[in-house]
Amino acid sequence: MTSSYSVGTGYARDIEFDRLDRQAALTFPRELQSLRAFGLTTDGVVVDFGSGNGAVTERLRAELPDAVVYGADNDLSLLATVPPPTLAVKDGRIPLPDNAADDVLMRFVAQHLTPRQRMDVFAELWRVLRPGGRIHVIDVDDSDVGRSSGMVTRGLVEIFGELQRIQGENGGDRLVVKKIPAELDNAGFEEVTPVAATVTTEDHPVSAFSVHMGPDRYIPLVSAGVLSVEQLAVVGWSWERLRRDPNAFISINVHSVHARKPNAAV
Ligand SMILES: C[S@@+](CC[C@H](N)C(=O)[O-])C[C@H]1O[C@@H](n2cnc3c(N)ncnc32)[C@H](O)[C@@H]1O
Repeated sequence: MTSSYSVGTGYARDIEFDRLDRQAALTFPRELQSLRAFGLTTDGVVVDFGSGNGAVTERLRAELPDAVVYGADNDLSLLATVPPPTLAVKDGRIPLPDNAADDVLMRFVAQHLTPRQRMDVFAELWRVLRPGGRIHVIDVDDSDVGRSSGMVTRGLVEIFGELQRIQGENGGDRLVVKKIPAELDNAGFEEVTPVAATVTTEDHPVSAFSVHMGPDRYIPLVSAGVLSVEQLAVVGWSWERLRRDPNAFISINVHSVHARKPNAAV
């Protein structure tokens, strides 16, 4: 199973690893509140499906010292950067027996998959979850990203549009979180609960938001030849204006969907 996600090579890979880490530092504390509110285990088995470089896996392990938190990915070179225990996903299968996990987390993975691929992934996550176990999907909705006090230039709007188009052409979807509730429902999960939370400049300094709004986010797209250096300069210019404004305010929305495998399910 392929996805629209590409980690790049060389410097692009280093930058992507750094981006994943800063993205987790910025919003994962808020996401964790939603996970806990929906009953995240403290001493059971958690699978971080599509764990990437483990930015969230490691944070979950720190927060849940009595749980077993697996990193799981189908990109073995990425998985090799995550400390054990890890699970190599092969041909769509997670190497765990049926009903073995209390919680599965799928963070920023759904947006890279086609609806058909998500259906297969949800079926596999269902298999490894115990009856009553929970699934947590965290992902993007570019129609509801939040707001900022800074001027959003026309160029920046175009670039965001381009990002959506490129990911869409590769089978991804930057509005995906809207579709997840119905997909989980169809997959047989119950208590499907969408949650939107905010992270603002009251929680973190303006500089921490560069991971979403700063030019560094777009460097991999330049190295992949999909964005021009001029477009990158526009992002940098907009970000600098916002960053230098002493009254800058940013509020970004964090979207998640939580659901449960029915107790009666086998
Ligand atoms: C954008 S990264 C997100 C990493 C991490 N979850 C985070 O929030 O920082 C997407 C990850 O999903 C993985 N992935 C994509 N499709 C997958 C699949 N079908 N099975 C397992 N992993 C997959 C990719 O290899 C990549 O590591």
